[in-house]
Amino acid sequence: MMNFHKKIETNVVLLLLGILATIIVGGLVEIVPLFTISSTIEKVEGVRPHSPLELAGRNIYLREGCYNCHSQMIRPFRDEVERYGHYSLAAESMYDHPFQWGSKRTGPDLARVGGKYSNDWHVRHMNNPRDVVPESIMPGYKHLNRPLKFADAGAHLKTLSLVGVPYTADMITNALADLKAQATPDADVTGISARYPKARLGDADGKPEVTEMDALVAYLQVLGTMVDFTSFDPVRAQALR
Ligand code: HEC
Repeated sequence: MMNFHKKIETNVVLLLLGILATIIVGGLVEIVPLFTISSTIEKVEGVRPHSPLELAGRNIYLREGCYNCHSQMIRPFRDEVERYGHYSLAAESMYDHPFQWGSKRTGPDLARVGGKYSNDWHVRHMNNPRDVVPESIMPGYKHLNRPLKFADAGAHLKTLSLVGVPYTADMITNALADLKAQATPDADVTGISARYPKARLGDADGKPEVTEMDALVAYLQVLGTMVDFTSFDPVRAQALR
C-alpha cells in the first residue's frame, strides 16, 4: 500500500490524474442529487409575490439605492434576532429578483420593518429623517412626492413571471386596477385582498394621486410581515421536510 502511494506521489502525471478523478467523482456525488429536486428553497405559508404597488415601491427602493445602506437579511445570531425579530427565511426572498440581502449596514436591517411604524411616520421619515430621528444621517427623499408612473405595472408582473415568480394571468390583467385600489382609500379592495393577502391598503401620504411615496411605503410596510411567526415552528417545519 505504501509503495502504491509512493508511485502516485512521485509521478506528477499519475498524481494529476488521481486528483482529477477524485474531483469528478466528488463533484458528481454532490451535484447530481440537486438535479432531482425542483427547488432548494422550502415554501413557507404566507409568502406571496409582491402586489403591483409594493413592486413599484421595490423598484423605487432599487432605483434610489437604499440597499447601499440597508440590508434585508436578519442573520440567525442572538443579537440580530433580539434587535430585528425572527431570522430571515430563504423563502421570504424567493420571489425577489434581485434579492436585497446585503451585508452593508449604514442604517438598520429592513427585513422586518413592516408594521413597525405608521405610514405617517414613514412619510415624515422619508421627507426628512431628522424630523423623526434627530440624530439620523439618512438622506431625505422629498422628491418621492411626485406622481408614480405605473402604466407598465402589468408588464413588470409579466416579466417577473418569466423568471419564475408565480404571477397568474388574473394578477397580470388586474395589475393596474390592483395598484390603484391599494393606494386609494375606500376603493373596492375585494380583488386585491384575495390576490395579495396582508397588502397594506390605503393612501400613505394623503395626496390625491398615487405617488412614489405611496408605493415605497406600501413596500416597506409589507417587509417581513408575510409569514406569521406566532405560529411558525422551525422544529415542526424541519420534521415536515
Ligand atoms: C446614507 C445611508 C442611507 C441611505 C442611502 C438610506 N438610508 Fe435609511 N437609514 C439610514 C440610517 C443611518 C438610519 C437610522 C436612522 C434613522 O432612522 O433615520 C436609517 C433608517 C431607515 C429606516 C427606519 C428603520 C428602523 O427600523 O428604524 C427606514 C424605514 C429606512 N431607513 C428606509 C430607507 C429607504 C427606503 C431608503 C431609500 C429610499 C433609505 N433608507 C436610504 C441610512 C440610510
